[in-house]
Amino acid sequence: MQLLRGFILSFAIVLLLVQLVLAAEDFYKILGLDKSASEKDIKRAYRTLSKKFHPDKNPGDDSAREKFVELAEAYEVLSTSTTRKIYDQYGREGVEQHRQGGTAGGHAHDPFDLFSRFFGGGGHFGHAPGHRRGPDMEFRIGLPLRDFYNGREFELNIERQQICDACEGTGSADREVITCDKCSGRGMVIQKHMLAPGMFQQVQMQCDKCRGQGKMIKKPCSVCHGKRAVRKEVETSVTIEPGMDRGMRLVFENEADESPDWIAGDLVLILEEKEPEISTDEEHRTDGAFFRRRGRDLFWKETLSLREAWMGDWTRNITHLDGHVVQLGRKRGEVVQPLSVETVKGEGMPWYSAEHLYDYDDEGAGSLFVEYIVILPDQMESGMEEDFHALWDKWRKKNGVDLGKDSERPKPPVKDEL
Ligand SMILES: *[C@@H]1O[C@H](CO)[C@@H](O)[C@H](O)[C@H]1NC(C)=O
Ligand SMILES: [Zn+2]
Ligand SMILES: [Zn+2]
Repeated sequence: MQLLRGFILSFAIVLLLVQLVLAAEDFYKILGLDKSASEKDIKRAYRTLSKKFHPDKNPGDDSAREKFVELAEAYEVLSTSTTRKIYDQYGREGVEQHRQGGTAGGHAHDPFDLFSRFFGGGGHFGHAPGHRRGPDMEFRIGLPLRDFYNGREFELNIERQQICDACEGTGSADREVITCDKCSGRGMVIQKHMLAPGMFQQVQMQCDKCRGQGKMIKKPCSVCHGKRAVRKEVETSVTIEPGMDRGMRLVFENEADESPDWIAGDLVLILEEKEPEISTDEEHRTDGAFFRRRGRDLFWKETLSLREAWMGDWTRNITHLDGHVVQLGRKRGEVVQPLSVETVKGEGMPWYSAEHLYDYDDEGAGSLFVEYIVILPDQMESGMEEDFHALWDKWRKKNGVDLGKDSERPKPPVKDEL
């Protein structure tokens, strides 16, 4: 009987364990990655997702809280190469066993602790009193119009203050921070001065042992020399969506200077349009340098000869900002007036709206306005000049334009010239 009960019990425990293992999601999946993910991918995934699911941002949402804890667990294991190797080979169980073995590097962190290693602020979003928020950082970046049209993804290196990885923001070589014994962590001590026999004055002073910090470290971290933070270039992934406007602000939440004393402010990139460069690089040699943008529309100047403007029968192939060709042209006999503007619908900038990121259709795209410039020949061979002169003379009395009508001046009407 005893034996049977024991057997049933252990069977139940095994079942429970199996269920636990089944319920636990794969660490890579939790971070939205696969096994080939690089160290950088893992860091980046944790940074992004932990902000999104932080309980401070999802008050009362238990599933977000769970996710936040899971993210920390997954990051903890996959960010260390030893535990990652063990996990890849033996799964969670292997990692558990390794931890129980007590080897260094296996200790599990408080998820808020881990978060504060990335963003400071004691793991919180600085809404609560006592959680200071660091300053925002703003940078202007100049991009060619082509990037605004096509969209672009790139990495930007920005130097900023980062919480020291080596000591995890403690400033201490062994990561231990001890409470000051002189002031018991208050940072202040009371000193009594005797003014007269039996008469004391109490003065509160900064503790000299810990310099008012209340905390002390035995040996400063060799990387940050006890400063707890270092200045470092950090890669930031920037995505320009097609049709974004200049002056647009890309906000990277909590990606500004970090410090253990505050929650990092926002990094803001302001998009500016760079003056076009006429590139000699054939691959990039589109006519892009000659487009001008106003809002959603593009402007283009096209030059025609007198013959083309007047007699028609011409084509132009404009290479657009993404390399596709927009064809302009007139049939024989079609006149183009100088400075007239042709509207080509749908060939302006793509439609972009922050709310409907992927909702751009052709109707939403702007127009391309083509302004025609007509160049008259200022020199002719003498024979040519005579031919033209004779031609004008022959026809000027029969057909022509009413210049008075066009100039909108009242009389006398001038009737001349073809
Ligand atoms: C433009 O392209 C069309 C079709 O490819 C071609 O027939 C035409 O000659 C081109 N025009 C010019 C000016 O290159
Ligand atoms: Zn002290
Ligand atoms: Zn350090």
